[in-house]
Amino acid sequence: MSDQRDSVVEYISERFAQEDDLLKTILKNQEAGGGPMMNIGPDQGKFLELLVKLIKPKNILEVGSYYGYSSVWIARALSSLREADATKQSNAKLHCIEVSKPQCEILAEHFKLTDLEDCTQIHHGSGIDIMQRMIDEGKIFEMIFVDADKANYSNYLDLAAKLIPSGGLLLVDNCLWSGKVVDPEIKDKQTQAIRDFNDKLAAHPDFDSCIVTIQDGLAFAVKN
Ligand SMILES: C[S@@+](CC[C@H](N)C(=O)[O-])C[C@H]1O[C@@H](n2cnc3c(N)ncnc32)[C@H](O)[C@@H]1O
Repeated sequence: MSDQRDSVVEYISERFAQEDDLLKTILKNQEAGGGPMMNIGPDQGKFLELLVKLIKPKNILEVGSYYGYSSVWIARALSSLREADATKQSNAKLHCIEVSKPQCEILAEHFKLTDLEDCTQIHHGSGIDIMQRMIDEGKIFEMIFVDADKANYSNYLDLAAKLIPSGGLLLVDNCLWSGKVVDPEIKDKQTQAIRDFNDKLAAHPDFDSCIVTIQDGLAFAVKN
C-alpha cells in the first residue's frame, strides 16, 4: 500500500506541487541533520498554500516548525498575497512556535534563504505557553496549523478555539497516525492522544470538522 501511496503522491507533486531548489535545500539540510524526516509532503504543502490563498488570513500560527518545510509553503502563499495587495498595506504574517532552540536558529536561516524574513516571526518556547500568552494578549489567527507533540493535541484544540475567530480554520497534522488510530490493538500513548483529539474535535460545539485523507491525515476544522 505504501509503495502505491508514494507513487500517487509523486504523481500529484510532479504535476501540481513541484519543490524548487530552496525547498529541496531545506530537505537536504534536514536529512543532513540526521533527525527524522517528519515534514509534511509536497502535496500537503501545496494544499496549505491554496488554503492560504483562499482564506487570505491576516495572521497564521504554526505550532511545530522543525526545519521550516511546511512554514515555507505557507509563508510563500502569504508573501504572494502581500505582493498582490494593491494598497501594499498587507502585513500578513506567519507566526511559528518551535520548542527547540537549535531548530529556531535553523528556521531563521531558512527564512533568510527563502527571503521570507518579513512575513515570518519565530517564537521559541512550548506551544502551550506561547499560545496561552497570545490569548492573554488578545491575538487572533484566522488559520492555525498544528504539527507538534501529539500528547498535547487536545490542549492545542482548547487554546486554538480561543485564538481563531468565527470562520477561521484549524488544521492539525497526523490525525490518522499511519492508520494506527483505527487499530484497536494499538494502545500506545501517542496513538491514544490522537484518538482523544479526534473524538474531542468531532464533538466540539465550536467547530465543524472532518479529517482530510492527505498524507497522514489532516484534521480540517472551521470555527462556527
Ligand atoms: C513534525 S515536526 C514539524 C514539521 C514541520 N511542520 C514540517 O512539516 O516541516 C514537529 C516539531 O514540533 C516541535 N515541537 C515538539 N513539541 C513541541 C512543543 N511542545 N511546542 C512547540 N513545538 C514543539 C519539534 O521540536 C519539531 O520541530
